[in-house]
Amino acid sequence: MTVTPPPATANQMWGGRFAEGPDAIMQAINASIGFDQRLYAQDIAGSCAHAAMLAATGILTNTDAEAIGKGLLTVLSEIETGRFVFRADLEDIHMNVEARLKEIIGDPAGRLHTARSRNDQVAVDFRLWVRDQCDAAIASLTALMRAFLAQADAGADWIMPGFTHLQTAQPVTWGHHMMAYVEMFARDRSRFADARARMNECPLGAAALAGTSFPIDRDMTARALGFDRPTANSLDSVSDRDFALEFLAAASICAMHLSRFAEELVIWSSAQFRFVRLTDKWTTGSSIMPQKKNPDAAELLRAKLGRILGATVALFTVMKGLPLTYSKDMQEDKEQVFDAADTLILGLAAMTGMVSDMTANRDALKAAAGSGFSTATDLADWLVRALGLPFREAHHVTGTLVAMAEKKGCDLADLKLADLQQVHPGITAEVFRVLGVENSVRSRVSHGGTAPEQVRVQVARWQKAMG
Ligand code: ARG
Repeated sequence: MTVTPPPATANQMWGGRFAEGPDAIMQAINASIGFDQRLYAQDIAGSCAHAAMLAATGILTNTDAEAIGKGLLTVLSEIETGRFVFRADLEDIHMNVEARLKEIIGDPAGRLHTARSRNDQVAVDFRLWVRDQCDAAIASLTALMRAFLAQADAGADWIMPGFTHLQTAQPVTWGHHMMAYVEMFARDRSRFADARARMNECPLGAAALAGTSFPIDRDMTARALGFDRPTANSLDSVSDRDFALEFLAAASICAMHLSRFAEELVIWSSAQFRFVRLTDKWTTGSSIMPQKKNPDAAELLRAKLGRILGATVALFTVMKGLPLTYSKDMQEDKEQVFDAADTLILGLAAMTGMVSDMTANRDALKAAAGSGFSTATDLADWLVRALGLPFREAHHVTGTLVAMAEKKGCDLADLKLADLQQVHPGITAEVFRVLGVENSVRSRVSHGGTAPEQVRVQVARWQKAMG
């Protein structure tokens, strides 16, 4: 029997059933090679593992498998040295690699796709790629946490205002504020680690959707690619993109945290606040206003969540309502994840640079900490402790004193003892001990509180945990 070769214009992978090639516009909308070439290393690693397994199980001869393995390494080096020509008519990375393999090694290349489909192939490639991005995010977050930790260590007892509603609330310490971000980014890090652990199952061998009749060894390929085990359901294996969604969700929360500190940097570096100084490395000038130093990097970081969350919403929207199993819709997963991952990694590096670079203006911080009656709570607490007043009454007495100070245009600490006693006769000179910002922060020794000694406990704990 002779096999009719496919018409020259039809796809060489499935041309048997096709009489003509695709419309040019069909090719433009269908091809993913423009972006999925980023998966080349994962695609080749998956193919190498698959070929070795096919030989070990006797599905391929050792000779064919060796030729395939060697040929794939040649393809890899061609891509890495920029000699590989990606072809849109070959649609995606999987077919580009296989077609080039055929050119290099000839017929044995056609045996590589035994017991495999592009559906499990893309699932494994993409998982491997997202898994690497989890590792990259974890490493970048560790660097960022170290930068915040260094700031906290240096300024464990520097006094600054703590805010609620962006109104001065109570004095806190710089170290405490920095450590708040260590906690936030540590949670982000653990989210990436959790997602990584959950995605670490190998879909290769699910084939198109139903598994295969060949005696494959899925444990072997899973192990070779660093997965904990093969996935358990072939239908789920080719239709699941939860791993990408989890990555995007973790990236979105992390980018939201970046945007919050970015906003604080924008506020803090303004002439009105002067809490921190960013150097020329992280700012830009204005082409018309010579005095300006704009915190552009911080502003961009404030904005980047828009992109990352956009990618998250986009992929959820792609996946919503898709029936099992693979549908071409799912090809729309990659660009979103690529862009979100690039944005996140760049953003983390920029934030790490800015946090390491910024200098706190201790005088401005301390001056602001003492304004706005920030020790009013300390006064109320003192009335409870020293005079036994119920807190609600102490709150009322303090409120009256704040109003008095406001009227006199001074701070609580500047009121005379006689003024204080006018509002509550039991008040003694002892009260002045709690009205200073230093005393205020030093007194907040509860677990996780702002007292320098508590901050140092947390800094030491994290330094130890991070090695
Ligand atoms: N380029 C495709 C994607 O990214 C690969 C899988 C194609 N599978 C198929 N049956 N057409 O999803």
